[in-house]
Amino acid sequence: MFTFTPQNLQKIEALKSRYPSPNALALPLLWMVQEQEGTISLEAMEAAAPFCDLPPIELYRIATFYTMFKLAPTGRHHIQLCKTLSCALCGKAEILAHLQERLGIGVGEMTPDGRFSLEQVECLGSCGTAPVMQINDVNFENLTPKKIDEILKALS
Ligand code: FES
Repeated sequence: MFTFTPQNLQKIEALKSRYPSPNALALPLLWMVQEQEGTISLEAMEAAAPFCDLPPIELYRIATFYTMFKLAPTGRHHIQLCKTLSCALCGKAEILAHLQERLGIGVGEMTPDGRFSLEQVECLGSCGTAPVMQINDVNFENLTPKKIDEILKALS
């Protein structure tokens, strides 16, 4: 059964005063669940819903809309490769093929050792340095196959 930690319950109380409506707590609560659990389960959405005065289905809609929310386990190094226009025009396909070859997995998959998972996402907000990927919370820009090799080696 999911419950927020006592520390997170304190944070929720503090957050309430920052927003005009409890509904606005939805995104911070989902982040909090993910930080606490690693992923966001249906059970956690049900537990979080009363804090933001929304039905659990609304939290589900939000969590499934934004790709930064993890509904299933990912690798220790979760790679999110941008697939939007600037990155697509600047070689995203070559980068994706290289990542898939190097990791031996496809999009939406995780390596058997759980070290890497691969996903394609919409714009990461760094279009001027395309192609771009994010590994956990860190952006890697101006990607080339050689740069991918260096990044993966550093994570080994
Ligand atoms: S299009 Fe890739 S970061 Fe914006």
